[in-house]
Amino acid sequence: MHSYACFSVERGLVMALFGKKKRTLISHKPDMNALPKHIAIIMDGNGRWAKKRHLPRTAGHSVGSETFRKIATYCNDIGVKYLTVYAFSTENWSRPQEEVSAIMSLLKKYVLEAIDSVEKDNIHLRFWGDRSRIPKELLELMEYAEKKSETMTGIFVNVCLNYGSRDEITKAVQKLAGAVRAGELEPENITADMVSESLYSAGTPDPDLIIRPSGEIRVSNFLLWQSAYSEYYFTDVLWPDFDERELDRAIVSFQNRSRRFGGVEAKK
Ligand code: FPP
Repeated sequence: MHSYACFSVERGLVMALFGKKKRTLISHKPDMNALPKHIAIIMDGNGRWAKKRHLPRTAGHSVGSETFRKIATYCNDIGVKYLTVYAFSTENWSRPQEEVSAIMSLLKKYVLEAIDSVEKDNIHLRFWGDRSRIPKELLELMEYAEKKSETMTGIFVNVCLNYGSRDEITKAVQKLAGAVRAGELEPENITADMVSESLYSAGTPDPDLIIRPSGEIRVSNFLLWQSAYSEYYFTDVLWPDFDERELDRAIVSFQNRSRRFGGVEAKK
C-alpha cells in the first residue's frame, strides 16, 4: 500500500474510534485585561512596500510614518503603557542622502505635530539614541517636545533615533567605568540594575512583546539588553500595511504564550 493511503486509513480509524478532532478556539481579539505593558516595534518593510508600487523608497517611509501614528493612537486607546519604535538606526546613515533627509523631515513633521498634541493626547514622548549627529533644528524640537510632555500620564512613546543597542551598551559601560575611575564604584559592585539604569531606557520596564514586520527574522541591534525575556512576533506584512488588526494578532499570539523567565511556573 502507498504510504500516503496507509496514513489516511490509519487516520480514518483513529477518527472513527475517538470521534472528531477537538478544535481549540483561538480568539482574534486580545484580552484587554492582559495587554503587554510594553510593546516595541521594528518598523521594517517601507522600501519594499514602495518598490512593489514603483514608488520611491521615501514614499514607503511617508506611509510608514502614518502607520506609526495609527498604531501609537491605537496603543494609547486600548491602554498599552509603553510603545517603543525603531525609527532610525546608527547604521542608517549609510543610506542615500536623499533617503536620510526624507526620514529626518518625516521625524520633524511628527515632532512638530506632537508639540501641539501631546497634552491633548496625554502622551509622554521620549527619544532614545545618540543625539550628537541629529540636525540642530530637529534636536531642539525633540527636546522641546520631551519637556512639554514630561508630566503626561498616558502612554510613553519612545522613538529610537540614531539608536543602536551596541552603542547604547557601550556608552553605559563607559559611564560605569568612569565611576570606577573616579573611585565612586568598585568593579565587583557593578550590578545588572546599574547597567539597566545607564541605558537610554532607564526607568522603563523591559519590552514584553517585540514585533518585526516585513518577513525579516532578526533583531538588528534593537534593545539587545532589554529583550532578554521579551516575546518576539514576526509577520510578513510590510510596515506601511500594518494596522490595528495586525497588532491585535500580535497581542493575541503574545497572550497565548507561557512566559516562565527561566523558571518552571508561568508568570504574568
Ligand atoms: C525600515 O524599512 C525603516 C526605516 C529605516 C525608517 C523608518 C522610518 C519611518 C517609519 C518614518 C519616520 C518615523 C516616525 C516615528 C515619524 P526599510 O526602509 O529598511 O524597508 P526595506 O527593508 O523594505 O527596504
